[in-house]
Amino acid sequence: MQRKNTYFYFIRILLLASCLLLCLLLFGCSDPVQRHKFLSLVFDGVPAVPPPTEEICADIAANTADYLVEIEGQQAGSKRSTHKPYVEKHCKDCHSSNKTVDAGLIVPKQELCFVCHEDFIHGQNVHGPVAVGDCLSCHLPHHSEYPSLLIDDPDEICAHCHQEDRLAEAMHDRFVDKTISCGECHDPHAGEIRYFLK
Ligand code: HEC
Ligand code: HEC
Ligand code: HEC
Ligand code: HEC
Ligand code: HEC
Repeated sequence: MQRKNTYFYFIRILLLASCLLLCLLLFGCSDPVQRHKFLSLVFDGVPAVPPPTEEICADIAANTADYLVEIEGQQAGSKRSTHKPYVEKHCKDCHSSNKTVDAGLIVPKQELCFVCHEDFIHGQNVHGPVAVGDCLSCHLPHHSEYPSLLIDDPDEICAHCHQEDRLAEAMHDRFVDKTISCGECHDPHAGEIRYFLK
């Protein structure tokens, strides 16, 4: 009896060790924080009788993948951003099974963002693309290399459309020279003050 227990204990250790090795190979947990999280994932989750190796590994792989996505957007210095409903795989909150209507979305593209971002517009002065629901002219729906799901660096985004001369040109030239970004003074969406000044 005693020997049998020792035998199972040994098998458990062996299963865990191979699992650990496999996942280390898969995810290359070189960072100490990730490694700690990873180890605690393995050891906390171990049930009294271990399920088959593939199951433990699949479970760890799923948890680790989710965790990596989660921290990717939060790491200091990282600009990346992810959209919560996308990361949580709520695809059907936006995508419809009927692909022939509204480009496969649940409502027309110009209305989609307002489904969840209700009462989004604050102020009487509304920025052109925001007023017509063209959020996708600045944002991506799933994830982005830039903060706030932007299609480009926040310092570059206004120049995508605003190449025209400023009425207040002399003033703006000074800001541009000092590399003060447009967003320091203008809200990108709307505002009470003219030109959505903050
Ligand atoms: C917040 C709403 C939203 C969610 C949630 C969402 N999508 Fe999308 N998705 C869109 C929009 C809007 C487009 C169209 C983008 C465009 O035309 O520029 C799109 C486009 C796509 C496309 C077309 C190719 C591409 O990347 O442009 C695929 C494929 C796709 N989505 C898959 C998914 C999957 C899979 C999920 C869930 C994991 C998901 N989407 C979740 C809004 C969403
Ligand atoms: C199904 C609901 C839903 C829809 C539809 C939706 N969003 Fe979101 N959005 C969310 C949630 C939830 C958050 C996270 C809010 C939070 O964390 O406080 C979010 C956050 C965001 C953020 C902030 C991200 C960040 O990193 O700070 C942006 C930008 C955004 N959404 C843009 C859009 C755009 C553009 C659309 C239309 C293509 C859209 N959303 C449609 C639910 C939605
Ligand atoms: C002209 C470009 C532009 C358009 C169009 C635009 N946004 Fe944004 N959005 C931005 C920028 C830039 C930021 C980052 C602001 C910051 O960090 O101060 C942002 C941030 C956000 C955020 C996160 C912070 C916040 O202000 O709540 C949400 C949510 C958001 N936008 C939703 C939307 C929705 C919904 C639409 C369409 C109705 C839209 N945006 C249209 C440029 C735009
Ligand atoms: C997708 C194109 C697009 C982007 C990107 C964009 N804008 Fe605009 N912007 C417009 C349009 C369209 C108008 C309306 C022009 C009009 O009414 O004559 C406008 C108008 C404005 C106005 C009001 C001008 C006026 O005379 O009333 C300001 C201020 C402004 N944008 C600032 C910004 C800032 C700051 C950014 C970057 C955060 C930005 N825009 C990014 C398209 C864009
Ligand atoms: C330091 C603050 C500040 C910064 C930075 C700034 N603006 Fe402005 N912007 C203003 C003020 C103030 C006005 C109003 C000028 C007036 O009333 O004549 C204005 C007006 C505008 C207008 C409408 C009138 C005009 O002059 O054409 C647009 C469009 C505009 N800004 C776009 C931008 C863009 C794009 C950027 C980034 C390159 C930017 N602004 C950066 C303060 C700023």
